[in-house]
This record gives sequence, C-alpha cells and structure tokens, in this order.
Amino acid sequence: MSINQNIKPISTKINERGNLEIGGCDITEIANKYSTPLYIMDEQTLRGIAREYKKAFSRLENVNMMFASKALMVSAIAKILSEEGFGFDVVSGGELYTVKNANVNMKNITFNGNNKTTDELNMALDYGVGRISVDNFLELALLNEIAKSKNITQKILLRITPGIECHTHEYIQTGHLDSKFGFDLTQIDEAIELISDEYKNLELTGLHAHIGSQIFETQVYYDEIGVILKEIKRIKDKFGIELYEINAGGGLGVTYTTDDCPPSVETVANVIIDSIEKHCEKYNLKKPVLYIEPGRSIVATAGVTLYTIGSSKQVPNGRKYIAVDGGMADNPRPSMYGAKYFAQIANYKEENIPEKVTVAGRFCESGDILIKDIELNNPQEGDLLCVFNTGAYGYSMSSNYNCVLKPAMVLVNSSQSDIIVERQTYEQLVQNDVIPDRI
Ligand code: LLP
Repeated sequence: MSINQNIKPISTKINERGNLEIGGCDITEIANKYSTPLYIMDEQTLRGIAREYKKAFSRLENVNMMFASKALMVSAIAKILSEEGFGFDVVSGGELYTVKNANVNMKNITFNGNNKTTDELNMALDYGVGRISVDNFLELALLNEIAKSKNITQKILLRITPGIECHTHEYIQTGHLDSKFGFDLTQIDEAIELISDEYKNLELTGLHAHIGSQIFETQVYYDEIGVILKEIKRIKDKFGIELYEINAGGGLGVTYTTDDCPPSVETVANVIIDSIEKHCEKYNLKKPVLYIEPGRSIVATAGVTLYTIGSSKQVPNGRKYIAVDGGMADNPRPSMYGAKYFAQIANYKEENIPEKVTVAGRFCESGDILIKDIELNNPQEGDLLCVFNTGAYGYSMSSNYNCVLKPAMVLVNSSQSDIIVERQTYEQLVQNDVIPDRI
C-alpha cells in the first residue's frame, strides 16, 4: 500500500500502556511535554513517501521532484525533503525565504504564481532560482525587464491551462479553461513570439500545467501530458523550437477517511510515464525532462493534530458536541471545503464505549466544526483527540482568528521528539501592532 492510501502515519500503533504512539513516542507524553493543540509530523512517513515518489519515477532518466511548498512550508520539513532529493515549487517571497533559510539549492526551485510582485521577481533572480513558471503577458514583460537590468538570462516555463476537468472541489480545480491561472492554449504563440523577438533575457525551456488537487483519477494525468506534448509538437512544427521540459504539477489525493480512494504513487507515476512514452513516439519528440510538484500527498499523512477535549453539549433530541482547544484557525479545511477527517482518542480508555459525537472547534463561529458525526470511544473532558492526515494545508493555511495562538509543531522519529515550530506567544501576536502617539 502506498503511504497516501493510509489514513494514519505508518509508525502509528497502540503501545503496551494502551496509548496512541507515533514515531515511537507515546502521544500522552508528547501532550504533557509540548501541550496541545499540537501539530505532530512523523519523519518516517514523510521520508517514506518521498522515497516512494523517487522509486516510482526512477524509470525516467530525467525527472525532478519539486515539493509544492504551499502544502507545508517549515524549514525543518524543507531540509528533510531536500535531503531526500526534492526541489521546491514556491509561490511567494515568504516561501522562497523559507527554503533559503533551510539551505536548499536555489537551482532546484520553480517559482509559480499568477501575480508575482516585482519585489518577489527581483528576489527570485537575486537568489538564482532555477525556473520561473511565467503565468501571463504582464509577468513576461516584467521579468524580462528585471532580468535585463541584472544582466541575466532567466530560464522560464510557460504555465498553460490544458482544458482538463478533474472531479475535485471547485476551489481546488485549476486545469479547466475558465481558470485564473496560466496562458490559454490560444495565447501561447503570441507569448513565444514575444520571447523570441523581444524578450531576449528569457529562455523558454518548457510548459507547465497543474490540473487540480486531491485527485483520485489517473486518466486526467494521461490526458494532461498528452495536451502538453501535443503543444510541444505544434510549437516545434510552427517555430522550429523543441521545448525540452514539462511540468505536470501536483494533485495526487490522500485518504482522509475510508471514503477516499486515491491511486498509489506508483500507479500515477506509471500513467504519467506511459503517456510521455506514447505521446513522444506519436509526435516524434525527444523524451522531455519531467518536473512534478506533489504537495498534499507528501505531507498530509505524516501529520496529525493533537487536541484536548474540553466542554461538551448535548442538544436535546439532537447531536452531542464535544469541543476541542483548536479548530478552524489551525485547520480551516473543514469549514472552507467541507473537508472530512478521521480521529481517535489518543489516551488509554479502560472500557470501550463508542459514542457518536460532533467535534467542534473553539472559535466564535457556528461553522467551526472539525468533524461531523464521528464515533469516538467515550470522549470526556481532558481526553486527547488525535485528528489524522492534517499535515497538508493545515498549518500552511492557519490563522490567528480570535487572537488564538498558533500551535507548535513537533517532529517525531525513533522515540525522539523535536520542536520544529515553536508555539506562538502573546508577545509575537502584538509585535507588529503600533499605537500612534496622537491617539
Ligand atoms: N503545483 C501547483 C501549480 C499548484 O497550484 C498546486 C496546488 C500544487 C502543485 C500542489 O498540489 P497538491 O499535490 O498539493 O494537490 N488549499 C487547498 C489546496 C490548494 C491547492 C493549490 N495548488 C486544500 O486545502 O485542499
């Protein structure tokens, strides 16, 4: 089984004391040591999936794995993934700064995004990032100007919308034609003409697409590669330029609950490789360098969030709510996308008394519900609740709503635990506040 097909980190077990254990660490001890709410990342699961990706694509001679930083950008995670041979897809100055902080080789960075600022493009060029995926005409002109002012020739890809619809949440679908991202296929020729005739400080190496996130289908990847290679063939015939790099984006789904059935990494890799082989043969093209940008599938399963249960409320003739010490500010996905999660009580329970409850967050909004109608073992005040599969797009989309402090993050492995993000402090919460003298 591929790691993205697991709900829990691969090192998860119930130990001899009857407590949940991850990375050889007793979760009740972790809670005592670091307090809750707490993000926990299992290093074994993280390195495991990174290695699965590497192995699954090893059939291709030229492939670059770029972790999509937006899923979780924390310096220690960047360091681990860089050690595992990953580069990074970044989309902001902040992500760029963080990967630099982790000493990642800047050649292994692709800078994406539909509205990069002048400052960010300057920063990217000063850092020497390997590729910039240019999204639109304005950026082409701007980037060329900046590259010229620095006397640099910057390697770029063009982000395209391949016109492929995949069946995922509307907000995380990006490859269909009515999308804010990238050049429409009808605009590519104009972009290429501008690059060859005017933008002499840009070197176009290939095309980039991303069709969506939390994808369970495989045919969409086959089709996506087909569309990209067909364009490369058309460009070759029309302009005599053979682009040699393709970036297929990310998107592979994970198993939040037993309702989710994502394909394995190997299955998706085989579909992508087959499509490259078939279409290169069909169009008589050299095999391109492949870039892929998985985000969610790399970090989701390795991560869990640990909460302490507080108050509860039994609605007369209705639901029973149990409230935890976190919620929509540390994991906005349930309230934003209706995302579903699985959880279990982490501490030993003498008896098995299953009870159907709804897990509510602590934030001042009725929509702050983490899990609707889940069966937990006799949840009581003071119990620890472990919510699984929160490694992706939880911390990275977290906020300080209600001025609640962001949780810490701990890395566990081989019975060792280390802080990788400190818990926020009240001082940090107000550090950017300014009270002008005149008031
Ligand atoms: N490459 C590009 C250009 C992307 O836009 C994305 C995600 C990825 C790669 C990584 O996709 P992944 O492998 O993680 O599916 N906040 C949403 C997900 C937004 C994804 C945006 N782009 C969520 O929590 O579900």
